[in-house]
Amino acid sequence: MDKIPVGILGATGAVGQRFVQLLADHPWFEIAALTGSERTTGGVYRDVCRWVLDEDIPESIGEMSVRESDASLPARLLFSALPTRAAKSLEPVLAESGFVVCSNASAYRQDPDVPLIIPEVNGDHLALLERQKSNRGWRGLLVTSPNCTTTGLVMALKPLDQVFGVRQVFATTMQAVSGAGYPGVPYLDIIDNIIPNIPGEAEKIGQETQLLLGKFEDGKRMPAEIGLSIQTNRVPLFDGHTVNMSIKFERSPTPDEAIEVLREYRGSGGTAELHSAPEQPVLVRLEPDRPQPRRDRGASKGMSVTVGSIRPCPLLDLRMISVVHNTLRGAASGSILNAELLVSKGYL
Ligand SMILES: NC(=O)c1ccc[n+]([C@@H]2O[C@H](COP(=O)([O-])OP(=O)(O)OC[C@H]3O[C@@H](n4cnc5c(N)ncnc54)[C@H](OP(=O)(O)O)[C@@H]3O)[C@@H](O)[C@H]2O)c1
Repeated sequence: MDKIPVGILGATGAVGQRFVQLLADHPWFEIAALTGSERTTGGVYRDVCRWVLDEDIPESIGEMSVRESDASLPARLLFSALPTRAAKSLEPVLAESGFVVCSNASAYRQDPDVPLIIPEVNGDHLALLERQKSNRGWRGLLVTSPNCTTTGLVMALKPLDQVFGVRQVFATTMQAVSGAGYPGVPYLDIIDNIIPNIPGEAEKIGQETQLLLGKFEDGKRMPAEIGLSIQTNRVPLFDGHTVNMSIKFERSPTPDEAIEVLREYRGSGGTAELHSAPEQPVLVRLEPDRPQPRRDRGASKGMSVTVGSIRPCPLLDLRMISVVHNTLRGAASGSILNAELLVSKGYL
């Protein structure tokens, strides 16, 4: 098939750079446009982008110009790595103009006619697009990906929820600095330190978890009735978010039963066929000192969530720890998987 021309909105930021890296060599998509704020618009990408990834800027992309995020972009699909405020104003305008927008921003995740998707978990929620089309009358579409930490929590919970019914979750996060974008958290605040507050993050994680694990009935999503208590922390790591969690179930599994269910999980709705889908969305490590962000964030090219330390909990039922790569599965790669799902379902 001919490659679909795509644009990256906010291509100079932490997530935007991941999109550039991942899409430079994607078999279905071809980078046709890069956008930035007033600060970088009109410049050559290589000159205006403070590139922070280890691999060099892909040769074919470095000389491209950074453009404004407007209707003239020569693309059909737009990956949005815009900050919330810019996403709020630009994403609907671009969807109205006819682009299919796959967004990483939180601006529209809670809207009742905007799908919030992890393909393996709730790809069926894409059916909300019918409601979006009739409500909004846009020529294009808007689909969102969850917060990066939500992804690490929900992918670990989903297989267990299907079999044992999750009722309560008490979770503490340890989130890497790249999760705050570039330049992000000041060096003097984060080195030799933990910051026990990421504004708005715990609320987002709670609400998004309930939406993602909720049912889709009569054209609506019904949030899951799961009680969540979440505390978030910024820690001095480059990439990789860790979530320590205790879970209460409707039917309490033994650690061995939980391990078996997590290992057998392959996701729902034929998503395993998508180009970027990992063979196993969830990997289980049995070593007592895993998962570790530095060693496990790159599992399956950063697409699998790694779960370990699965033990009985003396207060709730089970304890475990998950690690997700925040700018890959938790952002750019997750969004690309959403776009592949849209292609496979005929929306593009
Ligand atoms: N970092 C993560 O792990 C992560 C994970 C999941 C979701 N997200 C979400 O993804 C989005 C991007 O996050 P990030 O970490 O990549 O942030 P970032 O490093 O601050 O990058 C923001 C990007 O947006 C551009 N931008 C700012 N205002 C703009 C405007 N008015 N018009 C066009 N472009 C504009 C910036 O361009 P200039 O360089 O030209 O200023 C930059 O490229 C956010 O909504 C964030 O919440 C991030």
